[in-house]
Amino acid sequence: MSPSYKSPARTAKSAALYPAACAVIPAGVNSTARARFSGWDPYPLFIDHGTGAHLFDVDGNRYIDYLLGLGPMLLGHRPPRVTAAVVKVIQERGTVFALPTADEAVLARRIIGAIPSIEQLRLCNTGTEAVIYALRLARTFTGRRKIIRFEGMYHGFSDGVYWSKHPRLEDAGPDARPVPVAQGPGVPAAIADELIILPWNDVGALREAIAREGDQIAAVLTEAVMCNTGCILPESGYLEAMRELTQARGILLIYDEVITGFRLGLAGAQGRYGIRPDLTVFAKGLGGGFPIAALGGRRDILSLASDGTVSIAGTYTANTIAVAAALAALDELQAPGAYEALEKRCETLYAGLERIFHDARLGAHVVGVGPVMQVWFAERPIRNYRDATRYASHERFRLWWEGMLDRGILFHPHAFENLFVSFAHSDDDVEATLAAAGRVARDLAAGA
Ligand SMILES: Cc1ncc(COP(=O)(O)O)c(C=O)c1O
Repeated sequence: MSPSYKSPARTAKSAALYPAACAVIPAGVNSTARARFSGWDPYPLFIDHGTGAHLFDVDGNRYIDYLLGLGPMLLGHRPPRVTAAVVKVIQERGTVFALPTADEAVLARRIIGAIPSIEQLRLCNTGTEAVIYALRLARTFTGRRKIIRFEGMYHGFSDGVYWSKHPRLEDAGPDARPVPVAQGPGVPAAIADELIILPWNDVGALREAIAREGDQIAAVLTEAVMCNTGCILPESGYLEAMRELTQARGILLIYDEVITGFRLGLAGAQGRYGIRPDLTVFAKGLGGGFPIAALGGRRDILSLASDGTVSIAGTYTANTIAVAAALAALDELQAPGAYEALEKRCETLYAGLERIFHDARLGAHVVGVGPVMQVWFAERPIRNYRDATRYASHERFRLWWEGMLDRGILFHPHAFENLFVSFAHSDDDVEATLAAAGRVARDLAAGA
């Protein structure tokens, strides 16, 4: 049975809710990625509830969910242990005190114990906040002002970094030396002067920028896997070279592990690739679906917050709900064999998809690491944002997305987002996904 936009009777309630929401909420949604103009065309599905790896929309359609709230639902929807911990803390303790609770240090110790580069940490609410503070610490610590960030990455919506996420190539300068492009209006133009935008996966461009302006550069801010232009893996030696080049010039290396943290293993991407950044930002993988972020790293840098030299603040930071949720989530993540089982399921899914695309001669390939992946409809490897813009077919991706949604498989309609697999996805979910993918691939190959 099809919940397709092509058969709107199956999503009639979403269709009716959408104009009503648009009347009172700009674009009818509360975040850009959910908007019609971000691909949920002609209207976003309105969700009734989620359970485990499944979502149910207001029309009663059931989906196997690879959107996972764009990342936070790593344990699936309503993971029982997290839900129970949150309910308990609300009923027995309260939520916000503007004073510490003992559990905050318990949580900090557990994160520090799991990730070698983290010597101290502060909790925040969102990735955006944690990135702001990481940059503030880096500028104060080094006494420098410029930040290197990479075209195609997203580090939150603050003015300081909301640049060159997905710029129009006409505006973005030469391939080897991009110019900063504000991701939208309203961002002060003067910030461009604080940023150096580079192509990712290009050691030469990084080396050259550091040679040219190293004494002004406070930090390199990067994901270890590019997760906001689909999924792009680091080329062999790139992350190691970045670590060496930054260290040699006293430039701090900041890992944005908002997506990869606690997802590519308990120690995140840095654990997987064996890199020790100076500062790291975590968020989506940490809270079992509740808003919490963390900013951690070297003690000598974090100590700038010890005496208030750098203020790290927030009314809701370390609220009891977030802390209880994260502690319960860590219990799940640290269960013996948990990541191994997840990785095995992902391998089955990715290998199955590869085989399907190959057999259908679709020229598509799967790029994934741990439970993060994307399908590129491209004949050649994608190594950075410009490749993704030039060589990947967004039209084909759209047809793939529509076909899968028709068959009850949900993920974001834009190829620059990701598919996420949760700890709650079962072998049956993977099997059903591959069965659907086989049919969609055959349709695409036949030009249906
Ligand atoms: C890599 C990365 N960094 C930072 C952010 C911002 O996090 P938040 O939405 O929690 O502010 C995101 C959000 O998608 C992200 O993917």
